[in-house]
Amino acid sequence: MSLQDLSRIRTLRDLDVAGRRVFVRVDFNVPLQDGQVADDTRIRATLPTLAYLAERGARIVVASHLGRPKGKADPRYSLAPVVDHLRRLTSQPVAFIGDCVGPAVERASQALAPGGILVLENLRFYPGEEKDDPEFAAQLARLGEVYVNDAFGAAHRAHASVHAVVDFFPACGIGLLMEREVQVLSRLVQAPESPFVAVLGGAKISDKLPVVRNLLGRVQALLIGGAMSYTFLKAQGHDIGASLYEPDQVEAVADLMAQARQRGVALHLPVDHVLARRPDDPTETRTVRTGEAFGDWCGVDIGPETARRYAVEIATARTVFWNGPMGVYEVPAFAEGTRSIARAVAANPHFTVVGGGDSLAVLQQEGLLDRVTHASTGGGASLEFLAGLELPGLVALLRKAS
Ligand code: 3PG
Repeated sequence: MSLQDLSRIRTLRDLDVAGRRVFVRVDFNVPLQDGQVADDTRIRATLPTLAYLAERGARIVVASHLGRPKGKADPRYSLAPVVDHLRRLTSQPVAFIGDCVGPAVERASQALAPGGILVLENLRFYPGEEKDDPEFAAQLARLGEVYVNDAFGAAHRAHASVHAVVDFFPACGIGLLMEREVQVLSRLVQAPESPFVAVLGGAKISDKLPVVRNLLGRVQALLIGGAMSYTFLKAQGHDIGASLYEPDQVEAVADLMAQARQRGVALHLPVDHVLARRPDDPTETRTVRTGEAFGDWCGVDIGPETARRYAVEIATARTVFWNGPMGVYEVPAFAEGTRSIARAVAANPHFTVVGGGDSLAVLQQEGLLDRVTHASTGGGASLEFLAGLELPGLVALLRKAS
């Protein structure tokens, strides 16, 4: 899926929206805490598209999923708190309807005034959504004349509102958020300025192997942290004590290290570690170097020397991609490694892209979210895009464009 191909997809600017009902698929799958939105990054990211449509007098129908309610209505996954939050972020009138298909929803969409927004209830309250059911998609398509996909975070799902629905709309395109995500992430895989340094963390290397393989031909250095680094250190024969690792990935990781060597990619692993008795217990910690005995302790963060070396690597880069924490950052005593990566990425004045909820949460805690070139709203979607996989949401729109 090259940028050249993707540029055939119509954008908001190519669509005639004035006075028309525009069905906008967004990704409002945000974390909730005590019935309130805990992180509104994804909601804010759709505001430019909603404002663009309102300014042109479109009548805006907004649809999203939230969580995984498994095809049944479940009040815990209602979009009501998201709608309350959206009302605080926009001056446009925002109505909410407790369903997403059917005659009452159709009437409400018809009654919309130009510039008005109608938010539908969670699409995943119907099994047809995740089954990519054409009948469900056809019902959704009765709610608008124009379809806009601005849900980059859900573009890797072949679900009805992202995929099947495209066949039922005469006019389709992508929103401003989706356009920017695609442009930025394409630049990482197609024309990254070197040195390109990728920083990857998180628990599982199995989740990120396809991305690492695809990036190997593009990056000059890979900096590995988080629990996934213990699968690499295990493959090198080091003692990792009780640290989390993936035994069934040791062979794949050894192969990856050989490929990196062959291609001249510098693959950096932690040279020191913060250890604890348990991953959730900060009462006792110690720092050891790679190669020293861990005993029955487990790694919970990269050590200070690793953080310093990684920051130096990041500072020399002209392109940086960061996804995943360096340790158990949710425990403040184990967050320093991840925080230091956030600071280093934010201090780099060149092209810096950060993806994944955990990395973005730390950037936000540090007040640095606006210091990176692009904070991707897609966790899984950005990883699949960077792995070179075709995203169903974009494939459907491309098919329509040809
Ligand atoms: C996400 O949060 O990654 C997207 O909203 C997709 O959600 P899902 O993993 O439940 O499909």
